[in-house]
Amino acid sequence: MSHSALPKRVALVTGGIGGIGTEICRQLARAGRQVIALDLASREERLAVFRDEVAGFDGAIGFEPADVSDFDGCRQQVERVEQRHGSIDILVNAAGITRDASLRKMTPQQWHELMRVNLDGVFNMCRHVVEGMTARGFGRIVNISSVNGQTGQFGQTNYSAAKAGVHGFSMALARETARKGVTVNTVSPGYCDTPMVAAVPAEIRAQIIAGIPVGRLGAPADIARAVAFLSADDAGYITGANLPVNGGYFMSF
Ligand code: CAA
Repeated sequence: MSHSALPKRVALVTGGIGGIGTEICRQLARAGRQVIALDLASREERLAVFRDEVAGFDGAIGFEPADVSDFDGCRQQVERVEQRHGSIDILVNAAGITRDASLRKMTPQQWHELMRVNLDGVFNMCRHVVEGMTARGFGRIVNISSVNGQTGQFGQTNYSAAKAGVHGFSMALARETARKGVTVNTVSPGYCDTPMVAAVPAEIRAQIIAGIPVGRLGAPADIARAVAFLSADDAGYITGANLPVNGGYFMSF
């Protein structure tokens, strides 16, 4: 059978219409995946733009509405996607929000809203795809963490905790699935050219950019490239790893 006759692997990308998520969808589609972007139905304006942005992909990028903080909703959506497109082989958890405030001002609401999306969302999605992946003997899970989970950031006790948690979660799940052909890794972006970073006060943003050795914000494509690498069929020996993509902003060994 020729390669092109094989069914396309199905990739689900949460936060799929977002600043980084959209580019992840595009690069995975270019890598021959059938991609489904999962995101909030309420982002209507953004969704209309997204549909234009992916129109050239000839159906290789679809959209399904879902709220990753809703456990049962995630289950229903996973079932729906699998009925329509086939088993989910690749899951990219890119849905994320910020609720920046110094701890002395942070409300329980800011803490919980962020945890529900950035950390519970990863559990909710992985929980519903992992059994199918291990049963079939193939899976690629890539969770988007952040440099700020590695270093901590002023005003981000919630975000830094969740993003560090995402990597701990990924290492633990990597151990549980390693024998079954399923890899679980994180990608830790630095500061990227996205609406999330554009929302940082201009003065603080300028200071941050001045501290990036490469001298610029990351492009969404810089991050998507790492996701495509880790989710490739022949990336099976990389698991439990974190791949930093931060322009040298934080170097570690
Ligand atoms: N380091 C040290 N001191 C700082 C500081 C910093 N980074 N930021 C503020 N301060 C100081 C101020 O100078 C001020 O000092 P004085 O009291 O002596 O005047 C004091 O802290 C102000 O403290 P407040 O609690 O009143 O802070 P605030 O309400 O004015 O602002 C903040 C806090 C909203 C968190 C603001 O600092 C901010 O927006 N920071 C940016 C946070 C950030 O980088 N977020 C990243 C978002 S992008 C992202 O998350 C993507 C990714 O993965 C990289």
